[in-house]
Amino acid sequence: MVYQTSNEEHPIEIVNIASLEKRVKERMDKGAFGYIRGGSEDEWTMKENTSSFNNKTIMPRVLRGVDHADLTTKLWNIDLSTPIIQAPSAAQGLAHEKGEADTAKGVAAAGSIFSISTYANTTIEAAAASAPEAPQFFQLYMSKDDRFNEFILNKAVHAGAKAIILTADSTLGGYREEDIINDFQFPLPMPNLAAYSEQSASGDGAGKGIAEIYAAAKQGLIPEDIKKIKELTDLPVFVKGIQAPEDAEVAIAAGADGIWVSNHGGRQLDGGPASFDVLPLIAAVVNKRVPIVFDSGVRRGEHVFKALASGADLVAIGRPVIYGLNLGGAEGVTSVFEHLNKELAITMQLAGTKTIEEIKNVTLK
Ligand SMILES: Cc1cc2nc3c(=O)[nH]c(=O)nc-3n(C[C@H](O)[C@H](O)[C@H](O)COP(=O)(O)O)c2cc1C
Repeated sequence: MVYQTSNEEHPIEIVNIASLEKRVKERMDKGAFGYIRGGSEDEWTMKENTSSFNNKTIMPRVLRGVDHADLTTKLWNIDLSTPIIQAPSAAQGLAHEKGEADTAKGVAAAGSIFSISTYANTTIEAAAASAPEAPQFFQLYMSKDDRFNEFILNKAVHAGAKAIILTADSTLGGYREEDIINDFQFPLPMPNLAAYSEQSASGDGAGKGIAEIYAAAKQGLIPEDIKKIKELTDLPVFVKGIQAPEDAEVAIAAGADGIWVSNHGGRQLDGGPASFDVLPLIAAVVNKRVPIVFDSGVRRGEHVFKALASGADLVAIGRPVIYGLNLGGAEGVTSVFEHLNKELAITMQLAGTKTIEEIKNVTLK
């Protein structure tokens, strides 16, 4: 059966990010929605991700002459209009006919960074071509097959990727019950896998479950893999899925150029801490040696503010972008960024902070 999804292209009205989930649920294929929304096991960690932002408060500051907020920032030499970036997410063809190509375009219009997943429904080249000049990263699910790693990293370099994200928290899929109930199989091919399998007959992902896809990934990831990627690409490497401060130290010692604090939006280990709760501990260990990207559970401008005040340099969003893509294509994605930027700007002004750098000096109570 042909998989049918959205082809809409327009900005979307947003009152708050949390309400997007319900709107998408009403119109999306049940299995696809379950895969995108779901977390693992009891979804305890997933829920904690968002509720943990309530463990800290922002003291409002007044009489500081803050008449507007400036959201611009930088990562290395990349100028950004916002500290909010998109988190790499697989299989975006589930949400929209144009998949990652539209997401890339929408993120570029927001002046931010798009990251394409190894398990995307769009090729790395096509996503790059849909937003020329805009900064893009490539997210690697490292394979057991070294020749695949070389092949795909080479493609990312040639497409102009500015960094590689090595995802370390997903050497197998978390136990996601909704996918079991729905017997979810990816209905669309994963062309970055297909491009390689044309040479090696290893399959393209269509008609496979999550477990089968992850089975091709390298389960025994080690710190030396970071160095291997750097040698193959000469690009900076973020290690994504860091929750333990000790692991941040290990990754930096092995050559990581950035730490991506994430628990995969509560989709992997259930019963682990909220990502926000571990952020300050990791920031203390990192001690500004390399930039920190934070994700998992961010649904408010206030959450972005709190993450920046707790040690993050940039804050990534996963599901909200996919929901925006489904509801309005590239423009829907841009609307999600615009809405969070609006909330962040209000929070900044009411907290008496004018710039992103100033937020980093705020102490939460
Ligand atoms: C549908 C979906 C697919 C994802 N696929 C990937 C992926 O391919 N690679 C990866 O590193 N992270 C992946 N993630 C995790 C995101 O990068 C990010 O860590 C997470 O979504 C952040 O949590 P949030 O959705 O609460 O913002 C995925 C997340 C979702 C929701």
